[in-house]
Formats: sequence, structure tokens, C-alpha cells
Amino acid sequence: MHDATAEGPILITGGAGYVGAHVNLALLGAGLRTLVFDNLRHGHREFVPPQSTLIQGDLLDREAIARAISEHAVVAVVHCAAYTAAGESVYEPDKYYRNNLIGSLNLLSAMVAAGCRRMVFSSSAAVYGRPETVPIAESAPLRPLSPYGHSKLMMEQIIADYGRAYGLQYVHLRYFNAAGADPSGTVGEDHRPETHLIPLVLDVALGRLPAVTVHGDDYPTPDGTCIRDYVHVVDLAEAHRLALQRLLAGGDSGVYNLGSERGSSVLEVIAAAREVTGRPVPLRLGPRRPGDPDRLVADSTRAQRELGWCPQRGDVRVILEDAWRFHRCRFGTP
Ligand SMILES: NC(=O)c1ccc[n+]([C@@H]2O[C@H](COP(=O)([O-])OP(=O)(O)OC[C@H]3O[C@@H](n4cnc5c(N)ncnc54)[C@H](O)[C@@H]3O)[C@@H](O)[C@H]2O)c1
Repeated sequence: MHDATAEGPILITGGAGYVGAHVNLALLGAGLRTLVFDNLRHGHREFVPPQSTLIQGDLLDREAIARAISEHAVVAVVHCAAYTAAGESVYEPDKYYRNNLIGSLNLLSAMVAAGCRRMVFSSSAAVYGRPETVPIAESAPLRPLSPYGHSKLMMEQIIADYGRAYGLQYVHLRYFNAAGADPSGTVGEDHRPETHLIPLVLDVALGRLPAVTVHGDDYPTPDGTCIRDYVHVVDLAEAHRLALQRLLAGGDSGVYNLGSERGSSVLEVIAAAREVTGRPVPLRLGPRRPGDPDRLVADSTRAQRELGWCPQRGDVRVILEDAWRFHRCRFGTP
């Protein structure tokens, strides 16, 4: 294993957010030193453990990110910071392009100026839009449906251009639906507002919401509801560790899908949540959401083969059990 502890730390942008906080735990667990850069607009200070340094700063502040990278002699960056709600991005493209593109450009300029040339980038299955075939491999057509998805694809392309021009080595990780929580129950999913199915279902189980809305039950799937690939956030975090260590060891740039390769429908998730929580989860039927593909399931063979990624917690019940533990600790009444 490459000894980055002797050198500078790994910078995690968005490291106080959902995925970034789990990546931080995985890197610390592997003995790496980490520095979190987050404006805390959607992140949580308490998700950053004391072994990490937290810099509260905004990527739109060029000076702040340049200072963080040069003063700490950062050796590599895991870039998780972004606005993430695809639906909102349709109505607020300015907010999404400004944050996700300009913020990322500031980060890249600072990295190049400081000679920091390794990046793991949080991309998304949103780059595929409506797939022609499922499971989806990395070679599938790239046709995002929202400004959010476009911002991810544009950043993939920009980072690759920086690779060609400035020798930046990168790994783009296209996550499917991140879900679950660290089994400790201390770090997990807390987006405000929440738009993801599993925390919403658990909010209903806790009585924080009266019912979960099922957006359409007339899709061409066995039970009529949309099918998604839920990938455990701890498995995702592990893939970041593998990608980073490959870059630190001098490995090549690459693009990888990260999914459990299992599809679960909305109704299957709700049924599993009723079993795991032992509580009622009432649902109500709502209209389809524009742009929702009926089925998104990953082919993650490349990540398994080239990164040695071996997801351990892909079962949707395990995902729900871990998410429920966190959810009750954070939102339940004692
Ligand atoms: N959660 C998922 O299912 C999923 C799926 C695919 C891709 N992704 C990508 O993974 C990454 C992390 O997603 P998440 O679910 O953890 O979101 P999150 O909102 O929990 O975390 C993002 C973090 O980035 C910070 N941030 C945003 N803009 C910033 C800026 N300009 N300067 C400094 N900090 C800033 C926020 O405060 C937050 O802590 C995002 O890039 C997202 O697009 C997530």
C-alpha cells in the first residue's frame, strides 16, 4: 500500500455530506490522513470525526480552496461536493451550473497550481439519462436528462481535458442510488429537504411523515413501479479507497459504474422497510415524475475487475437495516 501518511493529506470536498463522510471513514480506516473542505450548507459538522481537519469553506471562493490545497500540501482530492437534487436542477440551472461547474473549476485550478494531480470524482448514473439497455455498462450512451446530470458529465469531460493537458490522473465513479449508513449509526443520510426513497420511507416508519408517495405505478416493470439499483454507501466508500490507492500507486485514469447490480422496485423497498422496521409504512399513489426512467441497474463488472471492488452489503434488507439504525438514532424519539 502507498504510504500517503508520510506525505500530505487527502482532501475530501463535501466531506461533511452523506457520501463524503463515509469516504472519510474508509480513508481514515485505511490509515490515510484526511482534510475535509465543506461549506456546511448541506453537510453536518458532527459527521467529520476528530481525526480529520475540517475547513469550513466554499469552492466558489477561489482563494480559500487554493490556500487549503497549498498550505496543507494535499496529495490527492476526492471531489464529492456538489448540489445533488436532479429535479430541483431543472428549475434552478443557474444554481447547479454555478456551484457544480465553477466550484469544480476553482478546485482544478488550485490543484494544478499546487502540483496536486490525482482526483477521484463523484459522478453519477444521471450521466446516462434514459438507458437503451439494462444493466448499464460504462460504454452506454451519455444523455443526461437534467442540468444536474449535465453538470456531472461536463465535469467528467473537463477533468479528462485537465488530464491530457496537465497530467492530472483521475477516476470518475458513477454511483447509482447511494443508500444505507455506517453500521455504527453515527453517520448516515440526512439531506434537507430529503428526496431519496429510503430515508423518506424510514421517515414514514418513524411517524415523521404520514405516507410515502409512489410516483407512478404504470411503468413497464413487474409491479408497475420504477426499479433502481441501491448501492450501500459503505461499499461506495470502499470503492473510493481502492480508486485513490490505485492513483497514489501511479495507476491509470478510468471511469467506473458503482452499483449493487440488483434492481429493487419502489414497492419492493417499501415492503422490505415494513419488515425491517416492524412498523406500518402507508403509501399513496402520485403522478409519474417527468424524466424518471423505468429501470436503472448497473453493470459494475469493470470496477470489480480493475479496482478489485467487491461490494459486501448490496442486499436491500442490509441497506435498510443500517439506514434504520442511523435514522432512529438521529430522528427517533428516545
Ligand atoms: N447520494 C447519491 O445517491 C448520489 C448518487 C450519485 C452521485 N452522487 C454525487 O455524490 C456526491 C455527494 O452526494 P451526497 O449525497 O453526499 O450529497 P450531500 O449534499 O450530502 O453532500 C455534498 C456536500 O458538499 C457540500 N458542498 C456543496 N457545494 C459546496 C461548495 N460550493 N463548497 C463547499 N462545499 C460544498 C455540501 O455542504 C455537502 O456537505 C455529489 O457530488 C453527488 O452529485 C450522489
